[in-house]
Amino acid sequence: MSKLTTLHEFIMDRQNDFPYATGELSRILSDIAIASKMVANDVRRAGLLEHILGAQGNTNIQGEEQQKLDVVADETFIKIFRAGGEICGIASEENDTFVAFNNEISKQGKYVVLFDPLDGSSNIDVNVSIGTIFSIYRRKSPQGTLATKEDMMQKGIEQVAAGYVLYGSSTMLVYTTGKGVNGFTLDPHIGEFCLSHPNMKIPETGRIYSINEGNINVCDPGIKQYVETYCQRVLEGAKRPYSGRYIGSLVADFHRNLIKGGIYIYPATQIAPNGHLRLLYECNPLAFIVEQAGGLATTGYQRVLDIEPKELHQRIPFFVGSKKMVEQAMNFLNQEVANNG
Ligand code: AHG
Ligand code: MN
Ligand code: MN
Repeated sequence: MSKLTTLHEFIMDRQNDFPYATGELSRILSDIAIASKMVANDVRRAGLLEHILGAQGNTNIQGEEQQKLDVVADETFIKIFRAGGEICGIASEENDTFVAFNNEISKQGKYVVLFDPLDGSSNIDVNVSIGTIFSIYRRKSPQGTLATKEDMMQKGIEQVAAGYVLYGSSTMLVYTTGKGVNGFTLDPHIGEFCLSHPNMKIPETGRIYSINEGNINVCDPGIKQYVETYCQRVLEGAKRPYSGRYIGSLVADFHRNLIKGGIYIYPATQIAPNGHLRLLYECNPLAFIVEQAGGLATTGYQRVLDIEPKELHQRIPFFVGSKKMVEQAMNFLNQEVANNG
């Protein structure tokens, strides 16, 4: 049997890849692994634990009903980050505003983390895959002071690391530091994430499209035409149309398409005119990962990583996946705009 590489060993081996190799980023990644194992434990037992399953009874700042597990996951990650000392502040989907850690050690931290503690929360109660998505930046404000909003509001191209944890049929952690994408599966027997998907690459094209089709008549008609033209017809050389696959947990839909090839679309709709997914907690980290894996992430018109954030909980339309498929969707939409004046 060949020796397994644990996440910890992998992070240590790759530490010198970082421009500022002082070990802090490595420690943050290790802390994320620890917090995610704690959340994975809660997820695995959610059906048995009354304090974990079901609605919290609140809505978050974005008007969405919070689930108990949203809050538990948020608190778990924040607790670990606050104790770590490398991070001076965080912003998360479940908090109204960003949190600057007000203790002397954290104020010395050089990094901030932005995250979606529990993605796909509508799937918690029905035992379907959910996840955590994270994004790490170097702070802009001086060390020794409180983190500022400016630290949080950076373009996606400034990310130093990003990743996600998928609480699926197995628990996986996938991350990038800008040198490719690697995936680790949690071995529950030894409690360690082990390298299972080295150097992940998304197929250049694929046969899966992922969109909430319930929205098809409340979004730009170009989207419907694109779906009908490219996804729901038998294209030349093919035996059948693309397969529609939509879990409703972005992180799970993304992960499947990353491995198999495909396109995920959450467009602007009449109900969500700016799109539904959050730039800082969901789109930027997945855009960084997909680009590192050879794919693309756009709003339909613009590269996601180039967007200058205007607000913390900003939403954008999101097209992500295999390079050729995203290009094809963008070309189609841009042609539409050109034709319609
Ligand atoms: P969250 O649970 O973090 O609020 O994210 C939900 C997101 C995403 O996971 C998913 O792809 C999408 O919302 C589903 O939205 P619809 O139910 O509108 O399709
Ligand atoms: Mn989410
Ligand atoms: Mn969430």
